[in-house]
Amino acid sequence: MRLAFVSLVLCSCLVYSTIGDQLPLCGDNCSCIFVDNKESAKVTCTKNVQILVTNPTTWINPDTNSSYQYLEITMTNQNFIELNFTFPANDLTYLNLAGNDIYRIKDSVFMNLQKMKVLILSGNDLELLSPHAFKGLYLPEGYEPLRALRELRLDHNRLHTLNQDIFEHTTDLEILDLSYNPFKVLDPHTVNAIDSLPMLKELYLSYTEITTLPDLILNAPKFLSLLDLSGNPINTVPKTLVNSHNLTTLYFNNTAFVNITVDNGFPDIPTVKVLHLCNLQNLERIEKGSLAGLTGLEELYVKDNIKLTYLDPFALPKTNEKSGGAVWPLLKKLNLANNKLAYLDSDFIARWDSLTELDILDNPWTCECENQWLVEDLTPLYLKIDNGKASHVKCGAPVEMVGFTFVELYDRQYKMRCLDLYGAQPEKDAALLVGVLAGVLIAIPVILFGIYAYQRRWFGIFNMCDNSPAAYSRRFYSTTSSDEYI
Ligand SMILES: *[C@@H]1O[C@H](CO)[C@@H](O)[C@H](O)[C@H]1NC(C)=O
Ligand SMILES: *[C@@H]1O[C@H](CO)[C@@H](O)[C@H](O)[C@H]1NC(C)=O
Ligand SMILES: *[C@@H]1O[C@H](CO)[C@@H](O)[C@H](O)[C@H]1NC(C)=O
Ligand SMILES: *[C@@H]1O[C@H](CO)[C@@H](O)[C@H](O)[C@H]1NC(C)=O
Ligand SMILES: *[C@@H]1O[C@H](CO)[C@@H](O)[C@H](O)[C@H]1NC(C)=O
Ligand SMILES: *[C@@H]1O[C@H](CO)[C@@H](O)[C@H](O)[C@H]1NC(C)=O
Repeated sequence: MRLAFVSLVLCSCLVYSTIGDQLPLCGDNCSCIFVDNKESAKVTCTKNVQILVTNPTTWINPDTNSSYQYLEITMTNQNFIELNFTFPANDLTYLNLAGNDIYRIKDSVFMNLQKMKVLILSGNDLELLSPHAFKGLYLPEGYEPLRALRELRLDHNRLHTLNQDIFEHTTDLEILDLSYNPFKVLDPHTVNAIDSLPMLKELYLSYTEITTLPDLILNAPKFLSLLDLSGNPINTVPKTLVNSHNLTTLYFNNTAFVNITVDNGFPDIPTVKVLHLCNLQNLERIEKGSLAGLTGLEELYVKDNIKLTYLDPFALPKTNEKSGGAVWPLLKKLNLANNKLAYLDSDFIARWDSLTELDILDNPWTCECENQWLVEDLTPLYLKIDNGKASHVKCGAPVEMVGFTFVELYDRQYKMRCLDLYGAQPEKDAALLVGVLAGVLIAIPVILFGIYAYQRRWFGIFNMCDNSPAAYSRRFYSTTSSDEYI
């Protein structure tokens, strides 16, 4: 009953139909979700509508001369090749032309779409973009702008450079996605293009084959808060990040770091709150001070790094050279899941009790006394933070502890054993120890006897082995004056 009621309520405010209503695009080849009392629609066309699209009557009602109210349009698999028609005036706010084999965009194609906030051109064959591809209409206050455009997605194309004037008509862009384009290097034209976007907030440069960021690229976008550099062969954090003004979220997933150190690690960027270092195939160590520049860090994701075995206890804190004191950032979320970590130092973060999220699952934790605090101190906290995750943390070593959960050990107030100085396992060495002890016990009287015998010169053989000059003279004198002693 209740389910039927809920679906009735849902249906009354969102009418879904695949059959065309009054909107020409809502036919066989597009599905439409009607909103605002069926007045406008979100349209998704996955089958061929090329003929429809280029026909003005699809956009403007010939009876009233008013535009049809498409709110959002998604067209894929259209095989457009060239965008060489101009969209008629329309109030759509979202246009998605992903996956249409577009390699060329004629000038001013979108100029009549002055309400369009989001334009998605992902997954096409774009290699060169004309600086006027995004040209809009004449406006006294701007240079023929596409004035509503805030989000432009050009990912998964073939771009390796951008014309430096490419964004002169879209100066208010806040989100720019250039991921998965073979840039290799961000040349000066591309840098100028990006620098012409003063309102930019999110910049996606993942999988662009770049090894670093050019200096000055972050000077102009004063509001830039998110930067994605994932999937690039980067093994040094670009120093130019210190020039950013409001960078809060940084993605370095799947980059080429092996050891993150003070030298190749993060410079001082106190604005950064969220850092993702996930899925780094080669990452082995996060060393002391390597993350210390991120003094405002709140969320740290170090996840799915299949070779990561070492996390320095002092990776995060900033040490004061003069006083020697250290200041940790106040983390709220920490994710260390699915690495190869065996030990975790209790000093890695300052306040485990301030965490609201914690994931340390899927690591080969060694259940020995260095990790006793994980069981004794962290487990009760962890149970409060995330009961589900906390109860699944397990020992990965030594063999006799494998599979025990931390919660079991905590409940039993289990004291984990300690390794000796050389990392040997004492209980396994017991037999050896007994042997050694027996050997020592037997050896002592033998040695004492030996020393006594030596002093008494019972065995000339002792002297024969010793060829030092002193021994020689001793031998010499012993043969001459031996009578005196005996
Ligand atoms: C719908 O798609 C089919 C196959 O993709 C195509 O043959 C047909 O002409 C399309 N209809 C319209 C109205 O565009
Ligand atoms: C629509 O516009 C055309 C050309 O501008 C004009 O000839 C026609 O009379 C208009 N029709 C209506 C219904 O306004
Ligand atoms: C638009 O481009 C398509 C594909 O390249 C081509 O077949 C068509 O003739 C072009 N139309 C115009 C008006 O240039
Ligand atoms: C900085 O970025 C955050 C979003 O991460 C935003 O809420 C804040 O308003 C920005 N501050 C400035 C001064 O741009
Ligand atoms: C990473 O650190 C380890 C241990 O200090 C060292 O043996 C290794 O050579 C380092 N690798 C690189 C690429 O720096
Ligand atoms: C980075 O990796 C994490 C974990 O796999 C994932 O949740 C996050 O979405 C990734 N972010 C990017 C931008 O790749």
